[in-house]
Amino acid sequence: MTTPGSATFPDGFLWGAATASHQVEGGNVANHYWEWEHASDTPFAEPSGDAVDHYHRWREDLDLLAGAGLTAYRFSLEWSRIEPEEGEFSRAALDHYRRMLDGCRDRGLAPLLTLNHFTTPRWFHADGGWLSERAGDRFARFVELALPVAQQAAYVVTLNEPNLAACLPVLAQMAARGEPVAGLPRPDQPLSEALIAAHRRAMEVLDGAGSPPAGLALVGQEWIAEPGPDGESADEAMVSHRAAMEDQFLSATSGDGFVGMQVYSCARIGPDGPVASPDAPMTQAHVEYRPQALGASARRVSEVVPDLPIVITENGLATDDDAERRVFTEEALRGLHAAVAEGADVRGYIHWSLLDNFEWFAGYGPKFGLIAVDRSTFVRTTKPSLAWLGEVARRNGLS
Ligand code: BGC
Repeated sequence: MTTPGSATFPDGFLWGAATASHQVEGGNVANHYWEWEHASDTPFAEPSGDAVDHYHRWREDLDLLAGAGLTAYRFSLEWSRIEPEEGEFSRAALDHYRRMLDGCRDRGLAPLLTLNHFTTPRWFHADGGWLSERAGDRFARFVELALPVAQQAAYVVTLNEPNLAACLPVLAQMAARGEPVAGLPRPDQPLSEALIAAHRRAMEVLDGAGSPPAGLALVGQEWIAEPGPDGESADEAMVSHRAAMEDQFLSATSGDGFVGMQVYSCARIGPDGPVASPDAPMTQAHVEYRPQALGASARRVSEVVPDLPIVITENGLATDDDAERRVFTEEALRGLHAAVAEGADVRGYIHWSLLDNFEWFAGYGPKFGLIAVDRSTFVRTTKPSLAWLGEVARRNGLS
């Protein structure tokens, strides 16, 4: 239980850091992002290449994580390594991830396993991706294949941020045109529904096998209605945007074991859609600096789905200034603690990210890591924020 006035988190609270396969492994040549990164009209600043070679260096990375005092690691399976061609499965790739799960347990780290973090095999994407009529069957077959690995996890995330993935078609067009993004656009509705259906198929497989608690990881935001220039109310627009972006996905969690929330900033919605605040400080990832968004999101989600445990599966800051990362994270955690004290059932905090990594369209520019990586030698250098978060974990809270 939390003690009023203190910033101690509930007993057994997990403290960890996260990565995702394509952003850290390197050489993921069989997925559709690799193809997209190399297309002539690519919106990517640079290709992922060797990333930070986590595929080979994961032991060293887990040593640093556990050595600092953290108690959990979230990472994802790379479907394109496990099923590089439809129906052709790689036992070696599955064994690799099984060894990583064992490696977590050996170091006292609770593994949180994401089955799909945005990237899909080229063959899947080429045949309609998530919008194909066969997507559900294909994903369910992959989940079945991954079951022996998934069964060893502490938590299983089926899909990473389907509510952001459903915005990607629009975001990619905007990026290709060089248009500034004021905030996340309204997600594409058919894609949202297809992703929700795929999640349900995955849950059938996981539930049927008696899996560890499983669910979605959603991008969460602090929702702010911004009146128009003549004072017109934006309340209705905000509620409608939030319903498409958040509520329809929260409704799809019924029967799940938990929900993962990944919170970086706020969404300001004006009468005509997302708007940027002209005076707000921005981060390296071009989102508003808004540490208080974490507590606000946890509070709201716990009101919408009161019976579902929440794990914060991502939160962090893109910055070259590691001292700023610590300040941001501490303020975010204070907000989260307040939400927990008010009754939000939050079971853990997983920082994004363990390592500086491939930040999608922005390439290797934005620095989210608790550990820096020299990309020509792959030498890892821990940042002070890693030791600080480890201390928070040891104390199970803030001093
Ligand atoms: C994603 C990560 C990403 C992070 C920071 C989340 O939307 O799950 O893959 O790197 O945010 O932008």
